[in-house]
Amino acid sequence: MNLIDFQTQQMPLFEDFLINTLKEEILPNSTLYHAMNYSVSAGGKRIRPLLLLAVLKSFGKNPKAGFEVAAALEYIHTYSLIHDDLPAMDNDALRRGKPTNHIVYGEDMAILAGDGLLTYAFEVIAISPLSNDKKVKLISALAKSAGPTGMVAGQVADMEAEKKQVPLKELKEIHARKTGELLRFAAIAGGIIAEVSSLALNALEQYALHLGLAFQIRDDVMDVIGDVTELGKETGMDAIHEKSTYPNLLTLTGAIEALNEELGQAKKALNYEKNNEVFDASLLNEIADMLLIEER
Ligand code: IPE
Ligand code: IPE
Ligand code: MG
Ligand code: MG
Ligand code: MG
Repeated sequence: MNLIDFQTQQMPLFEDFLINTLKEEILPNSTLYHAMNYSVSAGGKRIRPLLLLAVLKSFGKNPKAGFEVAAALEYIHTYSLIHDDLPAMDNDALRRGKPTNHIVYGEDMAILAGDGLLTYAFEVIAISPLSNDKKVKLISALAKSAGPTGMVAGQVADMEAEKKQVPLKELKEIHARKTGELLRFAAIAGGIIAEVSSLALNALEQYALHLGLAFQIRDDVMDVIGDVTELGKETGMDAIHEKSTYPNLLTLTGAIEALNEELGQAKKALNYEKNNEVFDASLLNEIADMLLIEER
């Protein structure tokens, strides 16, 4: 199956699940519900859920088995964006094509909506129909990826790297944490749910490490050359905040080269020793190709 067909088949179902799961739980008509729902239902590319569900499909499993965990991941990603946009952080006014959460609901509610999404994500996994063994593995992996040695640490390092030039090795580390970690979780969560071999899990992890880095390089590049309407967020913000980015450090051409190099490495990582395991790499290869930027 190709990626377009897979997306057409799965993503509308997942989207309903994502929105309805939130609706069922949080007090309807409360400000908190409206604030949480506002950012979740504003759209977004849903690349993390797509990756998780595509991993299940690649190993011959039903993507439906990953809906709860994919939703939890998207809630956490959405919380990270709400907080990332706050005046104390990146101070952004546009996200997913709409005014940012704090612009609409105020900083107090935006902080709390983020807190709500973060916490609720773990409940969604905990009460899912997966086996207890898988749930414990998934919850600890997600806590690790999102938490103080994962995404949160990356966000701290990102803030601390403003207004200075950090060496490439450090920038890679920042990107791997702030963005790579949630993509890494998407891939390994798919692997955990599909009960793949340890060799496959390792391959998925290597793939996602390169994909995650590529994803943030692309985001940095798009902040320079992207289109506001297409991206749904302002461009040129990294320069205003004097962020440490790939284009800053390596020039635009250098950043695009690095991005495409990472995508090549991601795809290469999928060639692992299969030992009769059912695995079709085509969806994951296509996800990597989706992020390519033509060199200029
Ligand atoms: C934006 O993530 C923040 C980064 C980690 C680069 P996405 O580009 O996935 O944002 P949405 O979900 O599509 O809005
Ligand atoms: C955000 O990186 C990473 C997280 C939210 C964890 P950016 O600050 O570059 O993301 P955008 O450009 O605001 O989407
Ligand atoms: Mg940021
Ligand atoms: Mg930002
Ligand atoms: Mg950015």
